[in-house]
This record gives sequence, structure tokens and C-alpha cells, in this order.
Amino acid sequence: MNTMQKAPAARFARHLIAAAALVGFAGLSVAGEVEVLHWWTAGGEAKAASALKATLQAKGHTWKDFAVAGGGGDSAMTVLKSRVVSGNAPAAAQIKGPSLQEWAAEGVLANIDDVAKAEKWDSLLPPVVANVMKYKGNYVAVPVNVHRVNWLWANPEAFKKAGAKVPATWDEFFAAAEKLKAAGIIPIAHGGQNWQDFTTFEAVALGVGGTEFYKKALVQLDQGTLKSPTMEKVLTTFKKVKDYTDKNAPGRDWNLATAMVIKGEAGMQIMGDWAKGEFIAAGKVPGKDFTCAAAPGTAKAFTFNVDSFAMFKVKGDDKVKAQKDLAAAIMSPDFQEVFNLNKGSIPVRLNMKMDKFDDCAKLSSNDFVATAKSGSLVPSIAHGMAVSSSAEGAIKDVVSQFWNSDKMSAADAMNKIAAAAKMK
Ligand code: GAL
Repeated sequence: MNTMQKAPAARFARHLIAAAALVGFAGLSVAGEVEVLHWWTAGGEAKAASALKATLQAKGHTWKDFAVAGGGGDSAMTVLKSRVVSGNAPAAAQIKGPSLQEWAAEGVLANIDDVAKAEKWDSLLPPVVANVMKYKGNYVAVPVNVHRVNWLWANPEAFKKAGAKVPATWDEFFAAAEKLKAAGIIPIAHGGQNWQDFTTFEAVALGVGGTEFYKKALVQLDQGTLKSPTMEKVLTTFKKVKDYTDKNAPGRDWNLATAMVIKGEAGMQIMGDWAKGEFIAAGKVPGKDFTCAAAPGTAKAFTFNVDSFAMFKVKGDDKVKAQKDLAAAIMSPDFQEVFNLNKGSIPVRLNMKMDKFDDCAKLSSNDFVATAKSGSLVPSIAHGMAVSSSAEGAIKDVVSQFWNSDKMSAADAMNKIAAAAKMK
């Protein structure tokens, strides 16, 4: 063989190796982009969202952030609707509870059953959660966490100064509020936005009315229960809480209300455990710098709020791959741990080790299991878990009108809520 013949053969072999390397590389990973809509912009929330971003990037994909600020997500949902209507849906969006069914019925969500089957989600999730993630038996969303909503956060220094004790009942709550007020401390840090008013309202409903009342009134929307003496008592108690908020409450963001408790300007806040994410992000230690207790009268019940990401239909193999990788990553034990440590919630994946979690999370985890058994695990109406989005919106509006009005009586509010509940 002369050199003239050898050269092309060697060149051919080199090309072959290069081509094989290329094919191999492409076979290993198809990098894609995932655009993710969420409303996690406060301190602890943003840290948790970064954990999600890092998890996706570690898989070689690109994260396109689509954050719409506004606690509770009402603004995010408005923006999402206009994007989907104009045919420009993100790959993933923070959508929760019964709303998932409403979106899936529009035919815009992707079926991610292959990921769910491969990763065995059915055996890793509480059935009550798995069912919500499915539309006509197929997974269309992946859950991230379990937030408990019925919490009372308190500043122990402020309580000490006032000579008050953290309340376990609504009577004790008002007694403590009086003492805090007398000591020149704002008793309750509140943000006057309708979803925050509604969060307080559902805590009062659970504490004053009890679990059976809560279920009948705010989950089943039973007219007789909505128009009952218990409902009137709930509304009267709820309105009394307002007397212990400050005049700057209207419009205040929830995380700024939490900051008031962190600084000791206020004694307490009624808020879900995303508030704990704020305390933690500020370097505060549970049990020392702040305390967590069930909202008054609700120690034996649990109002749950499960955050989840719905997957929208996307075009292109790279985007589909990236979307499915995101879904799988969300359910992985590592992600569930790091995300929830920052978010203030507990993992939604069953049988996770809780050793890195603080006492508030451990209490939440134990109570989640105990209340699931006793029948007092209830969906949060204020956080999109209990009823259709139209009924929720209508009731929320009346609750806020009542909170803000000097003229509306509890009886009037009760009748208006009952009428709003018909918006199914
Ligand atoms: C809730 C959401 C939480 C938290 C909170 C405040 O509806 O489920 O994850 O973000 O709003 O923004």
C-alpha cells in the first residue's frame, strides 16, 4: 500500500471517530429550554425557586424565568391566561388544586404519564395529592411540597415584653393581643390584600367552627352551613382581628408583614409556612427568634396547600425532554429536601428523612399524617385547594369587602358569601 492510498483511509477513520463521538454526545443529552411561570419572589420563596433552577441546569437544560410577583399568585394567573390565549404558553406553570382540572379541560396541558410511571409517582405520593395531579387518569402536573396554612407565627421577645403567652384559643388570642397593644407592639401583622384577608378568614373558620363546619361550609359550600349561627360567629371573630392590625396594613405584601414580626414591631402573623421561609432567609432560628404554633383552636387540624407545576404542551424534542427532566427532578429526594428546607414547607414525596428539617417542619409532618388519619386534613380554600376558582374568587371578594367595610354586618356578609358560593 503506498502512502497515496493510506491517507484517505486514515482520514476516513478519523471522520468516523468524530462522527461517532457526535452521535454519542447527542444521544446522551438533548439540551432544551424550560420556561417556568411562578410567583416566588420573596426571600425564602426566591431561594427555593433558585434550587429548582439549579436542579434543571444540572441536567444541562436552560431555565427561562417567568416570575410574576404577587403573593398568592393572582397576578401570575392573570398573566398566564393571556399568554395561553395568545398561543404562547410557558413549558411549566405554578398551578394548583382544582384549577389543574380546569386548565386540563382546555386541552392545553401535556400528558407526563411516562415520567410518572418510570419514576413510580403513584407509590411515592399520598393518593389525595396524586389524584389532583391527574386529568382523566393521566398526570398533567407534578407536586412540589405540602404547605400548612393554619399557623400562627410569633416573636417571643415581643411576647415577653408584653407579659403575654402565645394563644392556643381565640379567647387567648384576643387577651394576648390586648397585652401586646398595651406594650406598644402591633398585635397582628397583616397585609390587607384579599388573599391575605381570606387566609386569616379560613384560619378563624377552622378554629371557631371546627373541622366539620369547615368542610361543610368551605369545601362542600353547603348553603345551610354558610348561613348558620356558627358562620355568623366566625365572621364576627374574624372582623374583631382587624382591630389589632395597624393602619398601614392595606395593600401590604405578606413578606413585609412577616418582617414586622421578625423585627418585633408586631407580635404575631397568621400565615402559611412560606412565612417560615422568610424567617429562615433572615437567619432567624425557630424556637428561639420566632415560634410556630397552630392558629388558635386548630392544633388538631391541618389546612393543606400543595404547590405544583402543570406542564403545558410544547413543541420540539429538546423542549419536551427538558420539560420531562424538570418533572422527574422535582420529585427526586434531593430536590424535595433542599427546596422544602428553603420554602418552609415539607416534602410531598412520602417517606422522606426529616432529620435536616426544624421542629416546625417536623410538627407539620407529624400533623399531616395524624390529621389524614383522623379526618381533619382539610384543603385550603384561600390557596386554591378546595373549590372552583370562580367560587373561590367570589367568596374571597365578599370576605375582603366585609373586612374593609364599616357598614356591612356579619349577617349581610353571610348572605353574600352564600350567594357567592353558588358560582360553581
Ligand atoms: C401560596 C403558594 C405558596 C406561597 C404563597 C405566597 O399560594 O402556594 O407557595 O408562595 O402563596 O406567595
